[in-house]
Amino acid sequence: MNSIKSWIHLLKEDIYVFRLVFGPGIGKYFYYPAFRAIFIFRLSQLFYKCRITQPIAYLLTNINDFIHGIWIGPKVKVGKGLLLSHPRGIILNPDTVIGEYCSILHQVTFGGENIIVGNNVEILAGAKIINDKLKNKKLIIGKGAVLAAGTVVLNDVPDNAVMVGVPGKVAKYRDINDNWLNYRLQKNSN
Ligand SMILES: CC(C)(COP(=O)(O)OP(=O)(O)OC[C@H]1O[C@@H](n2cnc3c(N)ncnc32)[C@H](O)[C@@H]1OP(=O)(O)O)[C@@H](O)C(=O)NCCC(=O)NCCS
Repeated sequence: MNSIKSWIHLLKEDIYVFRLVFGPGIGKYFYYPAFRAIFIFRLSQLFYKCRITQPIAYLLTNINDFIHGIWIGPKVKVGKGLLLSHPRGIILNPDTVIGEYCSILHQVTFGGENIIVGNNVEILAGAKIINDKLKNKKLIIGKGAVLAAGTVVLNDVPDNAVMVGVPGKVAKYRDINDNWLNYRLQKNSN
């Protein structure tokens, strides 16, 4: 029962973030793939909780792959308030852990195991995060970090760092409150 409650809470926050970015209106849930992709993923996690319904979870993962071209298995841990603005070509390793209020754009790949993403991280179009399997250690993306378009991250990323380039280097640091979610909140309040 508790796990269903926490699942509903996750979904509520995903809806909150969707409304924040795309605005209110029921039609938007059907028009934009952003919510649909997350809903199918969350649903797969719900079915994964019970052994007998796990095949449905895997089926939903395949449906997401078929419709949106994203592969996020039910074992991936993702905190509340996920935003996938343009869900296309996103591939996540099954043991990836993603924090709360993270935004992931299209063509993002998490390659290799043990990748941990902090809260409020923004991963922009085409960024790749690669953890060398042979190193057998975690790769940590610090909270509030931004991975610029096309960045290839091979090592840990400090909190609030803006990473650019191949291989990814720190271009600058952002203020702790200068994350994508606060930007959206401010934009909507103006
Ligand atoms: C990460 C990003 C938001 C940074 O923007 P910003 O905070 O305004 O950063 P700046 O423009 O001040 O850039 C800082 C430095 O990083 C470099 N840089 C920025 N983005 C870069 C990128 N994607 N690749 C390589 N270098 C980049 C800049 O050239 C600059 O270098 P310099 O200090 O040597 O001049 C932006 O560059 C980005 O990647 N946007 C992509 C957004 C996207 O994916 N949109 C798709 C929507 S559908």
